[in-house]
Parts: sequence; C-alpha cells; structure tokens
Amino acid sequence: MTALVIGANGQIGKQFCELAQKAGTPIKAMIRSEEQVPWFNDRGIDTVIADLEDDFEHAFEGCDQVVFTAGSGPHTGPDKTLLIDLYGAIRAADIAKQKGISRYLMISAIRAENPMEAPEKLRPYMAAKFAADAHLRNSGVPYVILKPGRLTDDAASQHFASSIDEAGDNQISRANVAHALHYALQSSVINKEFALLDGKRSIDEIIK
Ligand SMILES: NC(=O)c1ccc[n+]([C@@H]2O[C@H](COP(=O)([O-])OP(=O)(O)OC[C@H]3O[C@@H](n4cnc5c(N)ncnc54)[C@H](OP(=O)(O)O)[C@@H]3O)[C@@H](O)[C@H]2O)c1
Repeated sequence: MTALVIGANGQIGKQFCELAQKAGTPIKAMIRSEEQVPWFNDRGIDTVIADLEDDFEHAFEGCDQVVFTAGSGPHTGPDKTLLIDLYGAIRAADIAKQKGISRYLMISAIRAENPMEAPEKLRPYMAAKFAADAHLRNSGVPYVILKPGRLTDDAASQHFASSIDEAGDNQISRANVAHALHYALQSSVINKEFALLDGKRSIDEIIK
C-alpha cells in the first residue's frame, strides 16, 4: 500500500515523510523540482516530479493511496488558491477515482465548512478548501479529511483536541499534524472528518 504524498516538500509534508519512512510506511513523495530530490534521497524516500498545475497523472503510478498536503501558501494570490488548493485537489480526486485509489487523505482546514465566517482575507482560501472537500466527499473515493487549525512550528506534543472549545485555542503544530496524518494513514478509518488542534488527548482517542 504505497501512498502518494502530494505536497511532500512542504513543512507538514517533510515531517510526515520522515515519520512514514522511519515507520516503514510505503510512500512516494510528489515534489516539484530536481533540486528537491536530494533531501528525499538522503532519507531513502522515493520521489516523483510533478506539478498540480501541469499533467500529474504519472505520479500515481504504483500508488494506491493519496495524501494531499499541498497548498499555495500565504504569499500567493487568489489565482493560485484557485489553481492549487481548489482545482489541484479536485483533479487529484478525479485521478484517484479513475485509478481506483483506495483512500484519499486530505489536509483541509478547521471551519472550512463555513468560509464566510472566516476573516475576510481568508475567505477565498476557505471557500477553496470547502469546495475541494465537497468534491472529494462526492467523488466516491474513500476519504479522510483532517482539518487543522492555525499551524505553528512547535514540536510535536502528540496530544490533540478535536474542537476549539476542547482545545481552548485554534492552533496545532505542523509536527502534530504530521503525526495525525501518519496515524490516519496506518488506520483503516474511511469517510470521516476530524478537526485537529493541540490538546490533551491521544490521536487514537480522536480518530476512534
Ligand atoms: N497555514 C495554516 O495555518 C493552515 C491551516 C490549516 C490547514 N493548512 C493546510 O496545510 C497544508 C500544508 O501546510 P504547510 O505549512 O506544510 O504548507 P507549505 O510548507 O507551504 O507546503 C505546501 C506544499 O505544497 C506544494 N505545492 C505548492 N504548489 C504546488 C503545485 N502547483 N504542485 C505541487 N505541489 C505544490 C509546495 O511545493 P514547493 O515546496 O515546491 O513550494 C509545498 O511543498 C496545506 O494544505 C494548507 O492549506 C494550513
């Protein structure tokens, strides 16, 4: 069961790939350029070069699961939000469907179900996440949608909460998200969605 990691060179992506590699979980890292290859080679992680704004179907070869943790990031405009966070995720779900992928694990965002409740400048991003999640749910591809709060660079506590009320805050470390993603990939959970925040419970408690 090899998982294609879309967005593998990102901050969550790299931490997730390292965890998966150390645990012996088969993955293939989808990255955008040759210069990114050595970091993965040094860790014995397979790579494929592909871009969500181009034809990326070849990246799925030999993979039966997908992890989507790509994102256009805060330094690009709504054009890239549309093309990567929305249409890239949708195209990945369509290819997953066509190829009979057994599960698609999506990094979405907390409260993406209510884009108009987000601060105004975040609404286009939240709307992209909302629509990409909806497309995935309706695709027929078994899915897991993880919805982190605001991401931090703190170390992994490996303790989680699944609502802002429970957490008392709206943040989670990227390291914790990587752990949750790896746990979800190793589990057999399907067609479930989880808000993810730093908290006090084990990931096992959240995902069960
Ligand atoms: N920031 C937050 O507070 C927040 C909150 C909730 C959820 N999220 C979500 O968390 C996820 C990852 O966060 P992060 O901090 O790890 O982000 P990140 O470090 O910016 O990583 C994003 C990755 O996406 C890749 N990417 C961008 N455009 C691409 C394209 N056209 N084709 C293929 N890959 C592309 C980037 O590739 P390069 O390395 O080549 O640039 C990068 O590796 C995203 O889905 C984001 O929406 C973020």
